[in-house]
Amino acid sequence: MVPLELANTHPALRYCWHPVARSTDVAERPVRVLLLGEPWVLARLGEAGQLAAFPDRCPHRMAPLSIGSIVGAGDGAGQVLRCAYHGWCFGVDGRCVEIPALGPGSAHVPPKARLRAAAGVAERHGMVFLRLAAPEPGQAGAGALGSLAELPDVAEAHDPAFMAGDLPVLQARASAGLLADNFLDMAHFPFVHAATFGAEEPEVAPMTVERATSGPFGRWSYTSVSEHAFLNREDPGVAAGVRPLEQRRRVTYRVHAPFHLVLRLDFLDSGGTNVIGFFLQPETERSSRIFSTIWRDDVDHDPERMRSAVEFEVKVVEEDLAVQEAYDVLALPLDPTAEVHTRADRTTLELRRMLAELVEAAAALTGPARRLEWDAR
Ligand code: FES
Ligand SMILES: [Fe+2]
Repeated sequence: MVPLELANTHPALRYCWHPVARSTDVAERPVRVLLLGEPWVLARLGEAGQLAAFPDRCPHRMAPLSIGSIVGAGDGAGQVLRCAYHGWCFGVDGRCVEIPALGPGSAHVPPKARLRAAAGVAERHGMVFLRLAAPEPGQAGAGALGSLAELPDVAEAHDPAFMAGDLPVLQARASAGLLADNFLDMAHFPFVHAATFGAEEPEVAPMTVERATSGPFGRWSYTSVSEHAFLNREDPGVAAGVRPLEQRRRVTYRVHAPFHLVLRLDFLDSGGTNVIGFFLQPETERSSRIFSTIWRDDVDHDPERMRSAVEFEVKVVEEDLAVQEAYDVLALPLDPTAEVHTRADRTTLELRRMLAELVEAAAALTGPARRLEWDAR
C-alpha cells in the first residue's frame, strides 16, 4: 500500500538520524529536546563526559529529567544525571545507581529502574544527532533499514580549504518533510528569492537524478545535478568588468534520508565552491528546527566575510519560511497522485519516492504488545 503522507511524528522516522542540538549547547546541564513529538534529555555523563540521550521521563514518577542536574557520583561512575523530584541518579548507561529514599548504595535498586537509551547518539559537524530506534537483528524486514544506521557526513567539512559558518538554529511552524522539499526545489528561486539570489530566468535547467543502489547508505540517498544561470552579485570580477553579472553554476544536491540535505554550488565562471548543509529536526506535529551550516572555500577564511555570508543565508531561509509557515497541512505528500509533477520537479519527486519506500520498509516492523505489571520492590 502506498503511504499517503509523512508528518513530523511518523513512526518510520524513529529509525533515522535527526539533529537535535548544537554540541556547544550541551554542557554542564541536562538539555531537553523534542523529536517526533517526544521529549528527550541530553547529558554528558560518566568519567569522560560521554554524550547520552534518554526519554525525558524518570521511570520512578515520570518527572522530566531535564529539570534535574548533573552531579559527580563519587564512586567511579563519574557524572550522573540526578532527577529533581526524589533524587534518583542515573549513569551514562541509563542504570539507576542511587535511590536516596532507600539509603546509601545501589543494592536496593530495582532492575527496572533504568533509562532506555536512544538507539544512537552522535556528534558531527558541531551538531548532536539522535536515532531513536534500530531494528532488532533478525527482525522480519530489518535488513532494508540496516543502512540507516550510518550517520551521513559532509565531505567538504573535513577539507581545510573550506571555512564553516553556522546559522542560528531556526524554529518554524513547518513540516520537516516540506522544508526538505523546499530546500531541494529550484523552480521557486525567481519568485521566493527575488530579493536575494533569484535569477531572472525562471526556466529550470534539466537535472540528473541518481539514486544510490549500494554503499554505506544503501538506497537511502540520492544525488541531483544541474547547471543554470544566476546573477553573481558577489563576484568582484563583475565590478571590475572582467566577467558578466549573469554567470553559470553547477548545482549538486546530496540527499540522505530523511532530512540530511547538502547543496553544493560550483561557480563555473568565477571559481570557488559553496556548500550549504540543511539538517532538519522534526520536533512535533507542527514544529521543526532548522540546523544549517555553510562551508565556503572562497572567503579567504575571513570571519567577517563568513559572517555576512551567514546573514545572507538567514535572509534566504526567512524568505522560504514565509511560504512554508503558511501551509495548513504540515506533512509531505507521499501519494504520487496527490500533487502535479513536472520535469522541473524531478529532484523533489525523488525525495517523495525515497521516503515512501522508507515508510513502507518501516511499516514491516512492529513492536511486541505490552503487558501491565504491578511491581514494588
Ligand atoms: S520522579 Fe524521578 S526520582 Fe522520583
Ligand atoms: Fe528557497
